[in-house]
Amino acid sequence: MHQPAITGSGVFTPEQVITNDELVVAFNAYADRFNAENAEAIAAGEVEAKAHSSSEFIVNASGIEQRYVMDKAGVLDPAVMHPKLRQRADDEPGIMAEMALDACTKALAQAGRTAEEVDLVICAASNHERAYPAIAIEIQQLLGAGGFAFDMNVACSSATFGLQAAADMIRSGSVRCAIVVNPEICSGHLEWRDRDCHFIFGDVCTATVLERAEDAKGPHFLVQSTRCATQFSNNIRNNNGFLRRSRPAGTVDRRDMQFMQNGRKVFKEVLPLVVSHINDHLADSGTGADELKRLWLHQANKTMNDFIGRKVLGRVPEADEQPNILQDYANTSSAGSIIAFSKYSDDMEPGDKGVICSFGAGYSVGSVLVERA
Ligand code: COA
Repeated sequence: MHQPAITGSGVFTPEQVITNDELVVAFNAYADRFNAENAEAIAAGEVEAKAHSSSEFIVNASGIEQRYVMDKAGVLDPAVMHPKLRQRADDEPGIMAEMALDACTKALAQAGRTAEEVDLVICAASNHERAYPAIAIEIQQLLGAGGFAFDMNVACSSATFGLQAAADMIRSGSVRCAIVVNPEICSGHLEWRDRDCHFIFGDVCTATVLERAEDAKGPHFLVQSTRCATQFSNNIRNNNGFLRRSRPAGTVDRRDMQFMQNGRKVFKEVLPLVVSHINDHLADSGTGADELKRLWLHQANKTMNDFIGRKVLGRVPEADEQPNILQDYANTSSAGSIIAFSKYSDDMEPGDKGVICSFGAGYSVGSVLVERA
């Protein structure tokens, strides 16, 4: 058995930003257009008028102040309200692979590794831009990595589930150096015309390099243990899938073909699940909560993270103990906890411990206990 370690991480951040104020102006213009176009039906009580959104609500309800996106113009055009991403030809890199290349290059540079030394690429994300060939295999080829590659999807928990898969393979010896990469184009599956959730997501890509601790060339984190858990729920759901065109007519603009959630229920049900998951993981690994220097949590909602931090540590966490990045990035699905890890881990001293934890649709929860070597 070999000791797995995280030796590098990297973040690709899109160039375009949408602030809450910009988002709300676009949404309200869309709502006004909709209400004008449907004035008669609204007056007859057949259609519900669309209410305005507000920046104040967004920041208070979620803690989100802005989000990065791959295409701002389409999202903010009241006549479009979704990103317009150019369809790539089959012989040019896909958009997910392109984002991944940037994040992987940064992670490999931090690890001091070349791509040829990688023998496993896992593309772990909430959505994949095509069914096959796997995005991971395209990334493997673009990087010039060896070995094998595959895609996996556990929604917001994809990154931690991917880390567990890679760490287990390193432990057993079936691979020596792995990259887990999380290109999340959340803007493509968000319904920007739905006031209840139009502010939730942003785009990003994260990458993490794992290898045998004995191979590490620089500062690294030992992966002490991992834990994944799932429990079926319909409270976060997206019905888009390969049978879409096989369904009866009239399905073109179905709301259920984008991200849907019952946010309140998610709040109520996921919080206790996550808290007991982390507590059990810590207890089973013989680690006291007071030994934790940092929690890198999934980035969906600030109130949620404050609650989890308080319950796990048994007190209000200091800002540096539980760094949030969602004010800048919004919810970036599986990438959120890895952005926090990547941006807020350099200062940790040898022996310092922390937990990377993600949670979301499924339901799914994944936690990775790491120690600075
Ligand atoms: N602007 C202004 N008001 C809004 C609004 C908007 N954009 N969206 C909703 N509201 C209103 C609602 O209509 C409602 O009004 P009412 O009380 O008069 O009916 C009120 O604000 C509260 O709405 P609600 O949807 O209950 O808000 P909330 O406090 O639950 O916050 C979320 C919404 C989505 C931020 C929150 O539920 C959440 O973060 N849930 C968990 C998310 C999560 O982790 N998801 C996982 C995804 S991977």
